[in-house]
Amino acid sequence: MSEPLITKAKEILNGNYREPGFTLPSQGLYPFQWNWDSGLIAIGYANYDMERAQNEIRTLLDTQWKNGFIPHITFHRESNTYFPGPKFHQASLHPDATTRYKTTGMIQPPVIGFVLKELLDRAQDKKGALEFTRKVIDKVYENHLYLYNNRDLLGEGLIYIFHNWESGTDNSPIWDTIWETMDSPRYTFERRDTNQVDPSQRPSNREYDHYLALIDLAKKYRYNDSKIAEHSPFLVQDPLVNALLIKSNQSLIKLYQICGFGEDKIRQLEKWQALSIANYESKFYDEDLGAYLHYDLRNKRKIRMLTSSSFVALFAGIPGAKRTSEIAGILEQRFGGEGLYLCASFDPEGERFDPKRYWRGPLWINVNWMLYHGLKSYGINKLAEQIRSDSIEVVEQNGFYEYFDPRRSIAKEGKGGYGGSNFSWTAALYIDFILRES
Ligand code: GLC
Repeated sequence: MSEPLITKAKEILNGNYREPGFTLPSQGLYPFQWNWDSGLIAIGYANYDMERAQNEIRTLLDTQWKNGFIPHITFHRESNTYFPGPKFHQASLHPDATTRYKTTGMIQPPVIGFVLKELLDRAQDKKGALEFTRKVIDKVYENHLYLYNNRDLLGEGLIYIFHNWESGTDNSPIWDTIWETMDSPRYTFERRDTNQVDPSQRPSNREYDHYLALIDLAKKYRYNDSKIAEHSPFLVQDPLVNALLIKSNQSLIKLYQICGFGEDKIRQLEKWQALSIANYESKFYDEDLGAYLHYDLRNKRKIRMLTSSSFVALFAGIPGAKRTSEIAGILEQRFGGEGLYLCASFDPEGERFDPKRYWRGPLWINVNWMLYHGLKSYGINKLAEQIRSDSIEVVEQNGFYEYFDPRRSIAKEGKGGYGGSNFSWTAALYIDFILRES
């Protein structure tokens, strides 16, 4: 049953592969290199082509700025199918920006630390993989140093984002609560995404006004982090971004130990780790909702809505035993109710739940992959297996889409695949779900 789809998945990755060594997420819709996509795609490659996996990471790390920052998109070539491109972003306004590539001036969830560990775990040639790790690990450390030095406003070990595109969950209803505080100008521009995907599955024009206004604000301050932190109406501590930073810290500690160097770095990572975990627990956890929430740093309030990001702490090993069973219970009952595939990106009981639109309801294979591994690490095997088999089933019934309708009735008929098609991380993590776990 699965064998032919493995071949198809590999063909998708092959078709999306570009020089100088990166895999675009989906042709037309996303024609460049995206940061966390590259990391997750590399995990898929690591099951059958380690050289590609390493190249993907090498190319990404090559885009790093002088200050350790790693951009969310690198525009390796021109394209007229995507807006906003490099001319709008103007990331070169920042004095430390790379002069070798055109990039954006924002981050994405910091996955590369844990990805390095995943690659090593999957390597047949351990010696070669270790050599690769030794060569690149300091760059990832430098990236964490950048994040803690520039994005941890209160010195509490929790980094902020200033744009929804930094979160990875670009169109979550969470951001509605920020848009309500903004009075963005109305921009005149041509949407390119809706030429390729049904507009009912994409953000609205008004939302794009806010996205562009935030980039204009960053440009006004030449992408200077402290100025942005002072002036941006969007300043959020995100539970997915911070969980992945914590997960990556953990992997870096292990990897430095395996490599046998970087003692001072291990000590620093351990310090960050203790602070980040303690404050993650105390600031994000919500007793009433039984999971971790986003914190709006600008307006000093928790954003009281559940999303799939509320559970990613499991992947980073953050919660203790009591909280873990509370969280797993909410995940199972509220997100895995009758007729639903796990795991919807937004609370299926929430008013703003929309099973078709982007991050407002559909399930995503990348988050499912993290939840699966998180649950497994706590020994919550039945729920973990359900997430894995749901992920495999939606792909096999609908194809390698960007996101999927969580309603079983729709997805079972093969009508539940939305957004970009031949989507790279869906293909890569499908491969990992099948090959790694069998
Ligand atoms: C969308 C997703 C983002 C992803 C990008 C490329 O914008 O929200 O997380 O990185 O597509 O796949």
